[in-house]
Amino acid sequence: MASEKPLVAVTCTAPVNIAVVKYWGKRDEDLVLPINSSLSVTLHQDQLKATTTAAISEAFTEDRVWLNGSEQDVGQPRLQACLGEIRHLARKCRSTDDGDSLPLSLGYKVHVASVNNFPTAAGLASSAAGYACLAYTLARVYGVEGELSEVARRGSGSACRSLYGGFVEWQMGERPDGKDSVARQVAPESHWPELRVLVLVVSAEKKQTGSTAGMQASVATSALLKFRAESVVPGRMAEMVRCIRERDFQGFGLLTMKDSNQFHATCLDTFPPISYLSDTSRRIIHLVHCFNAHHGQTKVAYTFDAGPNAVVFTLDNTVDEFVAAVRHSFPPDSKGDKFVKGLPVRPVLLSDELKAALAMEPAPGSVRYIISTQVGPGPQMLDDPHLHLLGPDGLPKPAT
Ligand code: DP6
Repeated sequence: MASEKPLVAVTCTAPVNIAVVKYWGKRDEDLVLPINSSLSVTLHQDQLKATTTAAISEAFTEDRVWLNGSEQDVGQPRLQACLGEIRHLARKCRSTDDGDSLPLSLGYKVHVASVNNFPTAAGLASSAAGYACLAYTLARVYGVEGELSEVARRGSGSACRSLYGGFVEWQMGERPDGKDSVARQVAPESHWPELRVLVLVVSAEKKQTGSTAGMQASVATSALLKFRAESVVPGRMAEMVRCIRERDFQGFGLLTMKDSNQFHATCLDTFPPISYLSDTSRRIIHLVHCFNAHHGQTKVAYTFDAGPNAVVFTLDNTVDEFVAAVRHSFPPDSKGDKFVKGLPVRPVLLSDELKAALAMEPAPGSVRYIISTQVGPGPQMLDDPHLHLLGPDGLPKPAT
């Protein structure tokens, strides 16, 4: 029997982004306003993405949220902030329409289900993709158009950069209300087709300090962080935009590595110190510098967020040789899992000169696997209702 109170459901996907000029530190905790601007590369959703279904119905009696199949506490302040902000925007949109009455749907409760296509256990930052997807999907289901940075940002700062594809800056803004703290696309995903991205997933040794708590501690105690935000990042933002516009890999790679290193230096300057890099992370850094020194130029560049996994940028003509160098230095555990997932990588033999240049003892099994990907587009809405994560009853469909 058809329900008398049908639901309206929308399903969207959103990408992961990786910062090449890092965000670290808030000037306003509630509004999630940063102490510096940041710039990121959007990774392709073929390899890494969040998928979210939002459904509204008169029949729902409360807001409910499921993440990777398990129900979440909808009272979490960040979820509440996103929901509150989208309803506020929806009301504003409707009241500026010439429509005479507010549609009932604004008062409806929402059910949300979200999944990631990559294992959370891999320790990859999933909150940016997740909150960008939430903001984008809620906007669609409530009929909100326009700027969504604030909605995504209130969930997780870096999430506002996942609202766009390609190369994206998050301008810190100046206003106390945060209206000018927004993400903007610097260049689309088609701009630099040769650019490739390798995520080196390493074995996590311990639970890391979360970004939110980590950056609070850094803001409170690190003089280096203050110096970085005020005196270093503004120049780096301009230089990074230039490197991207001119597709200058040497400049892009060098600045990406320096900015990652400075972010981790501010973590060490935090008191008590925070350290996100593991021995394997440091070995990867060494490997990249040896590889570049052997070639006499910046052919590959690493960056690390608040965890030990490395994200490596390179150009398509260098991927095969660099992956061979990673295999050589970190021989895979032969547990049958594929070592390289995603875009194809061809096996090549390393020259004896390069092997000698890598100059390190192999560390078997320390890199668990590599995700081979590229720059990708922003959030997408899926048209096929079969792809909804919620069934006609508004509850998560059983995993197939
Ligand atoms: C190191 O966006 O996760 O990845 O705003 O507190 O949710 P909250 O923090 P989050 O911080 C990301 C920090 C980073 C650098 C970056 O992505 O710019």
